[in-house]
Amino acid sequence: MNTLFQNAFKTAYNWVDERLNIGDAIAFAGKKTVPEHKHSFWYYWGGISMFFFIVQCLTGVLLMIYYRPGAEAYESVRQITNEIKFGWLIRSVHSWSANLMVLAIFIHMFSVFFMKAYRAPREFGWWSGVALLVLTTIFGFSGYLLPMDELAYFATKVGLGIPGSMPGASVLVDLVRGGAEVGDATIQRFFTLHVVVLPALFVPLLGFHLWLVQKHGNAIPPSEELTPVSERRSIPFFPNFFAKDLAVWLIALNVLAVLAALFPWDLGKQADSLSPAPVGIHPEWYFMSSFQILKLFGRWFPGTLGEVLGILVFNLGLVLWMLVPLYDRESPSGVKARRVTYFGLAVLAITLITTFWGYWEV
Ligand code: HEM
Repeated sequence: MNTLFQNAFKTAYNWVDERLNIGDAIAFAGKKTVPEHKHSFWYYWGGISMFFFIVQCLTGVLLMIYYRPGAEAYESVRQITNEIKFGWLIRSVHSWSANLMVLAIFIHMFSVFFMKAYRAPREFGWWSGVALLVLTTIFGFSGYLLPMDELAYFATKVGLGIPGSMPGASVLVDLVRGGAEVGDATIQRFFTLHVVVLPALFVPLLGFHLWLVQKHGNAIPPSEELTPVSERRSIPFFPNFFAKDLAVWLIALNVLAVLAALFPWDLGKQADSLSPAPVGIHPEWYFMSSFQILKLFGRWFPGTLGEVLGILVFNLGLVLWMLVPLYDRESPSGVKARRVTYFGLAVLAITLITTFWGYWEV
């Protein structure tokens, strides 16, 4: 029975291999190894981010079966949450997984930063990563409005108002909003962005990002470079590291299941543009830092000057973040490397402090 099965498998494999040359691809993948050292833990976070993205795609398709953008948006989400079997769970998993994905990406980004994995030849890995992060936050922002409850409505109104104060940006904001006010047209546009435009940009970019990792392999942190090459350890990606990846994904799935089941995602009151904004309106936690920084600039420099300066400083920070790989190349003195590490620590500290500060003030 066993040999019968083996022969059938071999015949099928040969049939496919003759036509698609999969043997070459398998040999190529088989060559990949992953370094093993005391910081290897951080190599899992890119994969964890990807796991949550896969969950987003699967649950997103299920939600799309019942979600109706436009005037019926709130009612359709109410039905998903209260009437459709397990609808509440799918919605809860989608919302929790979105947040966990952003968290995993932040951890992944800061870990590759402090491991200096952006250095040559991995610059494009860094830049494509920053682009993936930006797209992920736009995924979050556009998804947030879709249920059209009070919180979603007012947070989107405030969020779109921020770039709207920049000269030139208001044209883009009007285009995305589909009119002067957030309404049914905005939902339709955000929905198109969320399920068509963003995935169409994200998936090929992610493919490029992963291809680069396959091409260059995983970087080792500077501390590990001091180990003589003959003493460095590594394990094959297939099947060893991949099996560990799967085990970590299983843990991620468990965390997600516990959160989604024990803390079901809430649906607030239906948005009413005529009612005043409820107190304590704030953006999602991953926008809180930039929201608070803009608020502080507005306080220090009254009028639109504060807003414009805040947006400029924020964009300047993003540009500097992108330029890190070009500045910090390996140099014998190590001065630039140290400066960049301090810069990263400052960015991390400012992000955390302004996030907590923002929640404190809400
Ligand atoms: C959806 C978002 C992302 C996904 C799914 C993703 C996925 C991955 C995966 C699977 C790896 C290989 C394993 C690892 O080293 O963790 C990787 C490596 C890498 N990623 Fe990402 N990534 C994302 C976002 C980012 C961001 C935001 C950055 C930085 C701005 C970034 C920069 C890098 C770099 C430089 C590497 C190479 C690391 C090395 O050589 O060790 N990625 N990414």
